[in-house]
Amino acid sequence: MSFSKHILVTGGAGFIGSHLVRRLVKNYPNYLIVNLDKLTYAGNLENLNDVASAPNYRFERADICDTAALQRIFSEYQITDVIHLAAESHVDRSIEGPMEFVLTNVVGTVNLLEAAKNHWNDSANHVFHHVSTDEVYGSLGDTGLFEESTAYDPRSPYSASKASSDHFVRAYYHTYGLPIKMSNCSNNYGSHHFPEKLIPLMIHNIIENKPLPIYGKGDNIRDWLWVEDHASAIDAIFHNGRIGESYNVGGLNEWTNIELVRFLCRLLDQKLDRTPGSAETLITYVTDRAGHDKRYAIDASKLETELGWKPSITFEEGLERTVDWYLANQDWVEKVTSGAYQAYYEKMYIGR
Ligand code: NAD
Ligand code: TYD
Repeated sequence: MSFSKHILVTGGAGFIGSHLVRRLVKNYPNYLIVNLDKLTYAGNLENLNDVASAPNYRFERADICDTAALQRIFSEYQITDVIHLAAESHVDRSIEGPMEFVLTNVVGTVNLLEAAKNHWNDSANHVFHHVSTDEVYGSLGDTGLFEESTAYDPRSPYSASKASSDHFVRAYYHTYGLPIKMSNCSNNYGSHHFPEKLIPLMIHNIIENKPLPIYGKGDNIRDWLWVEDHASAIDAIFHNGRIGESYNVGGLNEWTNIELVRFLCRLLDQKLDRTPGSAETLITYVTDRAGHDKRYAIDASKLETELGWKPSITFEEGLERTVDWYLANQDWVEKVTSGAYQAYYEKMYIGR
């Protein structure tokens, strides 16, 4: 079978990557989708059970820092395009240990850029789409939105590593003419989100009647977008965005952390048939995150006007779907948080 594009998706076993891979495999049977993932604690092939045996899907366990592995994969699959999501993604972990973030997010990205530059020496149209975050812009005060022209001002080791990777991606465009596109998205939520991030952690702890740790006063603000709407934005930018451009992605959906957690408490009290107000008693204020960014908010008007993208569902609808998914998939949470799952895949893919 021949395919019109051979797309390498990195980090496809993670939260956003798995939603993107599922979308591409299902919507584009004429594309070969090669999912390259190291399967760290955050990557789980189970996220892709429903497409694992599709004729246009392949999986390669590899580290983006492994130059030889990238060379082999680019040659073996004749990769025509890259959508790069593989990263260390959790701010709290980056505060505990920044070096892993430098290695994967910076060195790994440059390694991938090199592989693409070395393999794409023909006249065909290629795309290297780098998926990044709004956190590269720093922290907002009470007003204003991040625009594509906002100066970079990263303030956590995570955002510093993503900002650095963004700079390298632009440098490869300006210096070597690599055909890049970039997107910077706000906080995502949805199914298959590793339960160390705010929303899945709170859902899990409410179900388990465990404390709900709120950093500082809970007045930090995030702009939340449903993960499938991020996948649809990447699809639109990959296909129709302009080479060399970056696009901000977000849903104009700002919530303080405490308001959001209270909303989840009310929703889960209802779903679990518990006394109204019982989940809120679990809220526990804890020491603030070091260097905690106050507010993120995205102006996505470039993406909306140029490419006609907009979010497909409201936050209330998205949160309800997310809560329903976690309620129906408690075994997934068990598996991804237990070492046994990791060990299983170590055994399955060792030596590949
Ligand atoms: P995630 O942590 O859920 O998944 C990351 C994936 O990358 C995992 O499958 C992991 O195994 C893989 N990976 C990690 N290191 C690797 C390496 N060295 N080589 C190969 N694979 C490796 O992350 P996510 O939340 O899905 O985020 C995906 C991308 O989107 C990241 O680049 C992140 O910066 C960006 N992003 C995330 C958000 C968000 O709210 N989660 C928002 C905007 C942008
Ligand atoms: P997080 O999901 O880690 O995303 P990011 O830091 O990339 O925005 O955190 C979202 C917000 O929730 C952030 O302001 C930190 C806060 N937070 C808590 O208050 N308690 C928690 O247990 C976690 C994980 C996050």
